[in-house]
Parts: sequence; structure tokens; C-alpha cells
Amino acid sequence: MTGNDISGTPPGDLRGRLLRADALHAPAMGEVEALDGALFDIDGTGALAAVLRAGTDAHAQALAGAGGRLVTASSGTVLLPGLVDLHIHAPQYPQLGTALDLPLEEWLMEYTFPLEARYADTAFAGRVYGQLVRDLLSVGTTTAVYFATIHDAATCLLADICLSAGQRAFVGRVAMDHPDTCPPDYRDDSPAAALAGTRAVIAHIRDHPDNVDARVRPMICPRFVPACTDALLAGLGALAAETGVPVTTHVSESDWEHDHVYDRHAMSDTESLDRFGLLRPGSVLAHGCLLSESDMRRMAERRTGVAHCPLSNAYFAGAVFPLRKALGLGLGVGLGSDISGGPAATVWETARQALVAARMLESGTDPELPPDARSACPEARIDAATAFWLATAGGADVLGLPVGRLAPGQRFDALLIDPAARLGGLAAWGLSGPEAPVRRLERLLYGTARANIAAVWVDGARVAGAS
Ligand code: GUN
Ligand code: FE
Repeated sequence: MTGNDISGTPPGDLRGRLLRADALHAPAMGEVEALDGALFDIDGTGALAAVLRAGTDAHAQALAGAGGRLVTASSGTVLLPGLVDLHIHAPQYPQLGTALDLPLEEWLMEYTFPLEARYADTAFAGRVYGQLVRDLLSVGTTTAVYFATIHDAATCLLADICLSAGQRAFVGRVAMDHPDTCPPDYRDDSPAAALAGTRAVIAHIRDHPDNVDARVRPMICPRFVPACTDALLAGLGALAAETGVPVTTHVSESDWEHDHVYDRHAMSDTESLDRFGLLRPGSVLAHGCLLSESDMRRMAERRTGVAHCPLSNAYFAGAVFPLRKALGLGLGVGLGSDISGGPAATVWETARQALVAARMLESGTDPELPPDARSACPEARIDAATAFWLATAGGADVLGLPVGRLAPGQRFDALLIDPAARLGGLAAWGLSGPEAPVRRLERLLYGTARANIAAVWVDGARVAGAS
């Protein structure tokens, strides 16, 4: 092949270059498109100006005129869109993989609030957040939605770290002031204090001199209804309307949470958030395991989407999110790792669990029941193409961002997978000869390990990669 080989040649900045690669993506739910030998024309700002398929006149002409702009991916590698993680608690990274032995409301009090309180120390925050952002980029999470803590300085620092590391991110300063559900040493002193802090963080992110292209954006972040007074929820709703900043919070995650809102407000969690003006376009509600059909319709109408967090749900929810039903009702859905309620810091693992959870919802789990009575939800399964779509375009659509697909007009946020990488998880790749695109995507979904991720780009700039 001609051109520069990019595997092993950092920095690999692709802005202004013409990349030739074999690519796969899932541009629509359940659909896989292979772009073998295609040319990806990346403009000087990191947008995909054109995607030219092999065998077309346009491809031949672009190749002939490319000159020094051409960069060719090594033979055998596969280009994919970057992954979107819709729900991450950045401060919980130090307890990843531990402390999942208690129900949600006890887990918060016993482990999580004491850990989050430590982010009053910005030096500690800097160490954790720096490591987290680097680790997430290296597994291919090019877009992240972060909950931080109630600390303004540490939250601003998380946004700064995303900016300097090159990650696309939404960052929320957590608001929580309810004296009955939040401990005295980890809660906002008043609704006014939480609102002032939220405003300060929004201004910091929007006015940051390195953020001219708004690659990092603020979110308004009530922790969840149980942790917030009505005055705070109303204030945050008004602030969202005033600033146009989208909202992220938790909704109908567990029976305890779901029942708490019914007891307090005599309506569902979704109806309550809506009443406070917190269901807004581009907003993300995590979990939603216990959403009713009318809750789902209401969210879809408001163009608020769900972060499906199947790993976390196995520990805290007591139910499986009815993903197929939600998608069928037109609700926007993407995936959330829910670090650290979910014990894996990667969307790859989350996508695999989304597949498994949907299969088990369909098959049922009680061996005492006969097979024809065992299913909890017929036709609940999803395929690998849908799982990958959720991890990329599905999540991007919830946020309203032009990422998640390898198509003209999108930002060039992408990964290069090397199936032959030593210590990778794709040893069987190619042993059986040429395969249909959906089979190749299945293998990638189940087998990709960190060592297989040779390069990661956001806006065409190299931000991570094994080599
Ligand atoms: N609900 C309120 N806070 C949290 C949290 O930190 N994690 C999860 N999974 N649910 C929550
Ligand atoms: Fe969460």
C-alpha cells in the first residue's frame, strides 16, 4: 500500500489528511455497513468532509490527487466510530469493582458519599480524574457524560482535564441538598448554594479559553429526586430553561428510588422531573428500569434519552430495563458504564452486558418453570449490531452530537482496531476466512481488548492508542 503507515507512528494527527482504511459502523439500529478500502477525507478542523467508497470514480480521483495527504491504515486493521458513554460517576473510579454488596440507598451512605466527600481536596481530584480520562480514552470512550461532585473547583478541574486530554465530554456539578437523604458533611448547604455552584461551573466551561469549539460542555446535574429539595429541583429547572444547558440525573432506577418519589410527590419520577422543567432536549436520564410506557412516551416527546446501564442494574435495580420496548416507543437510548455502580470502566463491557441482559429477559431465568412459561418478555433480545449502535450512534443521538457514525458531516471521532495485537482478545479473527460485516462486528464486540485498540482520535487528533 502507498502512503504513510499509521500503526506505530504517533502522533497520528489526521486533520487535513485523507485516510484509507477498512471500516465498520452501525449507522442505524440493527444495521451494519462495511466500508472496505474507503477513503475518509478529514478537513483541517477534524470533520469528515467525505467518505469515498472503493471502486467509485470519486475514490479513484481522490486517490490519484491525494499526494502527501494520504495516510493508509495497516493491512488487517479496522476503523470504527468512537464509543459514547452516557453515564459515568468520575469520583467513584477509586472504588471500581468493589463495594457492590449493599442496596443502592445503603451503598450511597456507606461507601459512595464518604468517597465523593474527599473531592474537596483538588489534588486528590486531579490524580483520580487524570487517570480516569486517560483510561477511558485508551479503551475508546471518545465521548463521556460525567457526574462530578458537589465541589466546584474539582468539577472545573475535571472539565479542564477533558479539555487538555482531548476527550469530548459533558460535565455536571452534582447538586444535592436534602437533609433527610444526604449526610451533613456531603451536601449543599442550601438550594441557593447548589445553584450558585452550578452556575459557576457552567460559566467556567463555557468561557474556557481552550474550549472555543465547545468540545466540553456543561450539564445540570441534580443527583436524583430523593437527594434534592423541591426548591432545588425548581431552581435547576429554571436554570436549565435560562441557559439552555441539558440535564442529567437518575430516574426510576430501583424500587426504593421509584417508590420514594411516588410517596413524596404522588407521581412517577419522570412526571416529577417534568414538572420541575428537567426533561429537556439532549438530556440523559440514567437507568429507567421501572419506567412505565407513559413515562417513556413523555421522555420521547421531550427528546430526553436514557443511559442504559445493564451492569449496574444487575446490582442495584432489581429489574432489567425493557430496552426493546423503549426503542419501539421511540425513546432515545445509549449506554452507560455507571462507574462505579457498574464495575467495568468500558463501554465494550457495557454493550456485551446489554446483549446478555436482553437475552435473559427474553429467555427468563427460573428453571422451575417450563420453557414456554419462562420468558419474562418475549422478543426482548437485541443483536450485536444493535448493541454496537447503542454504544456509538444511539448514544450520540441522545446527546444530539454529530459523532457515532463514519459519514460526511460527522466529527472524526474514531478507533483503529488491530486484531493481530499481541495480548489482544481477537486471536480467532480471520481464521475462518472472509466474513459478512455483521459477523465481523460480532467478533469485535465480544473480543476487543485494550491491547487491540491501536489508535483513538477525537476531532481527527490522536488522543490515545496502544502503539
Ligand atoms: N442514584 C443516586 N446516586 C447514584 C449513584 O451514584 N449511582 C447510581 N447507580 N445510582 C445513584
Ligand atoms: Fe449513576
